[in-house]
Formats: sequence, C-alpha cells, structure tokens
Amino acid sequence: MCGIVACRTTDSAPDYLCESLEALEYRGYDSVGIAVQTVGGGALRLRSTRRVADLVEQMAAVATRELTGVGIGHTRWATHGGVSERNAHPHTDCTGSVHVVHNGIIENCDELRATLTSAGHLFSSDVDSEVIAHLVEDELAFGADLADALSHTIDRCEGSGAIVVMDSHSGRIVGASRHAPLVVAASPNGSFLASDISAFGPRVASFQVLRDGDVVELAAPLRWTGIRPDQPDVVTHEWAGTELGLHGYPDHMAKEIDEQPELAARILDRVGASATNGSLWRSLDLPDFDRVAIVGCGTSLNAGGIVAAAFRRFGRMPAETVIASEAAEAVLSPRTLVIAMSQSGETADILRALDGDNLALCQVLAITNNPHSSLARRANAIVECSAGHEIGVAATKTFVAQVLTGVAVAISALHELGRVDRANTESILDDLRRMPDLLAQSLTIAKDVVPPLAAQLIDAPGVIFLGRGAGVVYAAEGALKLKELTYRWAEHYPAGELKHGPLALVEEGTPVVVVDSGGSRIAGNIAEVAARGARLITIGGAGSTIPALGHSLIAPVDNGFQPCGPLESVIPMQVLARELALDLGRDVDKPRNLAKSVTVE
Ligand code: F6R
Repeated sequence: MCGIVACRTTDSAPDYLCESLEALEYRGYDSVGIAVQTVGGGALRLRSTRRVADLVEQMAAVATRELTGVGIGHTRWATHGGVSERNAHPHTDCTGSVHVVHNGIIENCDELRATLTSAGHLFSSDVDSEVIAHLVEDELAFGADLADALSHTIDRCEGSGAIVVMDSHSGRIVGASRHAPLVVAASPNGSFLASDISAFGPRVASFQVLRDGDVVELAAPLRWTGIRPDQPDVVTHEWAGTELGLHGYPDHMAKEIDEQPELAARILDRVGASATNGSLWRSLDLPDFDRVAIVGCGTSLNAGGIVAAAFRRFGRMPAETVIASEAAEAVLSPRTLVIAMSQSGETADILRALDGDNLALCQVLAITNNPHSSLARRANAIVECSAGHEIGVAATKTFVAQVLTGVAVAISALHELGRVDRANTESILDDLRRMPDLLAQSLTIAKDVVPPLAAQLIDAPGVIFLGRGAGVVYAAEGALKLKELTYRWAEHYPAGELKHGPLALVEEGTPVVVVDSGGSRIAGNIAEVAARGARLITIGGAGSTIPALGHSLIAPVDNGFQPCGPLESVIPMQVLARELALDLGRDVDKPRNLAKSVTVE
C-alpha cells in the first residue's frame, strides 16, 4: 500500500528517494512521485503512473546541481480518486511551497475540502490527502511553526494515517502519524523518514518508530515535538540486504516459494522444543483462556484457520476465525484469547478490530513477521513468525511461517492449560518435524508437473478449488493465490457443499483443483465433478495429477489429522498460480490491486 520516504541528506536527494521508493515497491502501488527542494527554495516535483524506474528516467533530464539533499517521495495505492498523474503524491498547497505525502484515509475529507474551497483554496487533485497541504498552508499563514502546523492539521483530520510535510521555502521536513506506520532514522549522512525500514537500506544503524502524538523533524539531531514528553525507543537496524536480492531467480515469488522447506526447518528448530514443554506459552505471560478467536485477513486469515483447527483438534478448545473487517459482529467473552495474525502487523482492518468494544476486554497475542509494527505495540504479547523479508506482494512463505508458528503456540498453550499431555505434544512435534521434507518433496514434484498443467489452463475463465476437513482452508488459499496473480476468478468450496448448488458451475472442461487428503468421501466428490466433464487436477498421493502429498494423507495417520493438515499442498497451488500468471503475462511480484501492507480499512 502507499509508501512514504523523505530525506535531509548530504548526498543526492533524488538518488536516495528513487532508491528507497524502489525498496518499497514490494508494498504494491499504482503511481509514484517525488518533490525535491531546489537551491533557490522552490521544488522540483516529478510524478508518474508507471514504475519508479520512470522517475529515474525523468531525473536524467534534470540538472541535479540545482537540487538540494532535501526531498520527499511516495508510492500511491489509489483509494480516493483514480490513478492519474494529478492524483499522485506529493500534493501541494496554493503557494506551491508546502508539499505533502500521506498514507491513510481522511474520513472527513469532503467537509474539510468544502470549508477550504469556500475560503478560497484551489485544489488540483481528487485526492483526500491534498486537504493536508491546504490546512498546513493556513496554519503557516497564521504564523504557526511547521511542526505545530502539522500537529494542528492532524487534529482536524479524522481517520488514520502517516503524513510527511516538506516546506520547500525553508527546506524543513516534519512527519507525524496516527495509527499508521512511520519510522525515522538519523545517520552521519543525514536523517530519513519512511513507511517501513526497508526504505533505509544499509544507510542507518538504528531507527525509531513514531507513536500516535509524536511529531518529528528531520534535523541533526532529530527534533521531537508533539504531545509526548519522551522519545520512542531506539531500535537496532539489521540490514537484510543479501536476503533481498534475487540470487539468480527470475522473480521474488519463485525464490520465496523455494525458501519454504528450509524456512519450515528453521522455525521448527526455533520453536519446536519450547512448544512441547510449554515454555513458549509461559514466556508470553498471558492469562489462561477457554476460547480462541483468530483475527486476520486474506492469507493470514487462512493461516489462522489452520491454527484454529489445531486448537480444536488437539485440545477440544473452541476456536474460530474472525474476518478482521467484520469483527464488530463477533461475540467474545473476556476469557477469549484473541490471536491477531498479520504478516505486516500494519493491517488497518485488524488494528481497527482490536479497538472494538467486543475485543477490548480480551488479551491479544500477535503472530506477526514485523516485531516493530503497530500490531506488535498494541498486543499484550507477540510471537514472531520469522519468515524474513517477503518481497513478492502475494504471500507465500509467510503463510507457511504463520501456520507453523501458530500451531507451535497452540500446542504449547494447550499443554500449559493441561489439555494435551507431554507425550502427545512430543508426538505432534515429531509429525511437524517431517514437514520440511514433505514441503521439499512437494516442491520438487510441483516444479516438474505443474508448468504444463498451467499452460493448459490459459484459456480457462476460472478455476474451482475443493477440499474436505483440513484441506478446505488450503483450497481457500489456493483459490486466493490464483485470483491475486492471474486475475481470473477462482472459488473454493468444501467438497461436500458442491452438490448443494455450486456444482452448477461445473461443465465440460471446467478446471477443478482438489486438495485430496484422502478418504472415501472426497473420492465421491471427485467422481461427481468428473462425471460432469470437469478438467480435474488432484493434489494428493500416488496416482494424483500432482502426487505431492506425503504423510498428510488421511489413510496412514491414526487420528486422520496432521498438525497442520496437508500443508505441503499449498506449494503446487502457489506454483500453479505463478506459472499461469506468467503464461498470461502478469507481473507475479506486483500483481494488480494487491498491497503488501494494507493500511486503510
Ligand atoms: C495474499 C495477501 C493478502 C494479505 C492480507 C493480510 O497474498 O497478501 O491477502 O494476506 O492483506 O495482510 P497481513 O498479513 O499483512 O495482515
């Protein structure tokens, strides 16, 4: 989603801004822009509805000696107003001196715009963010300092967001945020603001995360104002540069799919023992609970579904998933443990859900890939899912990391609550420890078998995904990946539901992907679609179209349930989505309309 960068540096501002915007490309965007202070106290503004590379090309025609090291930049993911150059950030006030980049939504924008327009302000875009520039302009006209002008402006705007303002006249840059991520860092070469630390690259050794009410000015040293008497903690920045490269892969998605077996092994090494002896749960210092609600969105919600199933199956613990944007409808008792599952930890729907009256009395455990996120700060405890950087916008390896981490938390908590004994936790862990090999085996098979299958689907308008029991959530994840990457419709159903209506969709040649984790019932469902001429792709044991399921098949397992269900089925579905997307000419790392960090509701 929208990305913000800003710098006050001794180096070239355009170079820094373009490089750091490139580092934020993974968040997803549809237009981009920068504004750099000129030596004469004006600003050069460049915007594009194409990629950051387009700005770099535009810069080549500019005499850079006219520019200072002060500037701001933005990648936009449209909410208010269509995708166009005039709607791309930075936005300016009437004087052309105040430049604003903003990530979030201003809920009372119409009202503010009407007031400002009737006071004589001229708007040049359809974007809510532009009101900020005009509000700051008014504050400055009344003699306010830039930092105070921003504080007062935020007070007048309803909603959440991160804002950075540059006054090209003075060359000052201030930033503030409310319920939205914004980080600041200082180095010998200057000071920097950004939506996330990936923007900083190797330039800084530490950073600070702005809290609600903080206002910071890029200066040496940083100048903190706002309503808080103290400064946020300083966090050490470990640059993950080598991890971010493609290392010979054609795209990040391919690399991240491949990383999954090794990642699974790393996670199990890290949390395995502490899951079985309960110390993982004890270290969180959370109270006992008798119900679980897992709140999330998209892929994280699917991962939550598998974790909820583990609570139910192993501990007979009532556990449900709650779609974050619908959480206001959930009825939860105070003894419910809320697990907020979020890769980014910045998903606005989740943060808003946790603010709801119905969740306010519950303890919140965050399972997140970002220990410095807004969610991590809001939660009563956090467990990192430690997937490393995921650059592909569509989630792949973070899904596997969330599932394994979440299941480890479930086992550990159930053990501590006396619902699963030690022998059982050990045997569950033994099963989990087979997962890296199963994932590796599935990966090898998928890479071999799936590409020709994908090529056969090139003209298919859509695909149905089916599963039963633990396989249903994987079918959901497979369908989500296919939609996100190929822009074709894809629906998932519990296979048994098919005959209650959706079977109407199946005709000669309809592609149907089945997560076939074994058993006679799913065999019956497969027969139903085959009888109607479906183009069947089964992911199961030997004899399946994609024989990628090993130990997760129901037959060889005593209780018919693996700790994570058929987790390895997700890999062929990721590969299928990627291959078909490539065949269709899609950008698999940056699919349209998908954002990595969804910071608006
Ligand atoms: C799917 C995808 C999204 C995210 C969802 C939640 O590939 O990327 O569905 O899973 O937006 O995001 P997080 O996990 O950051 O809360």
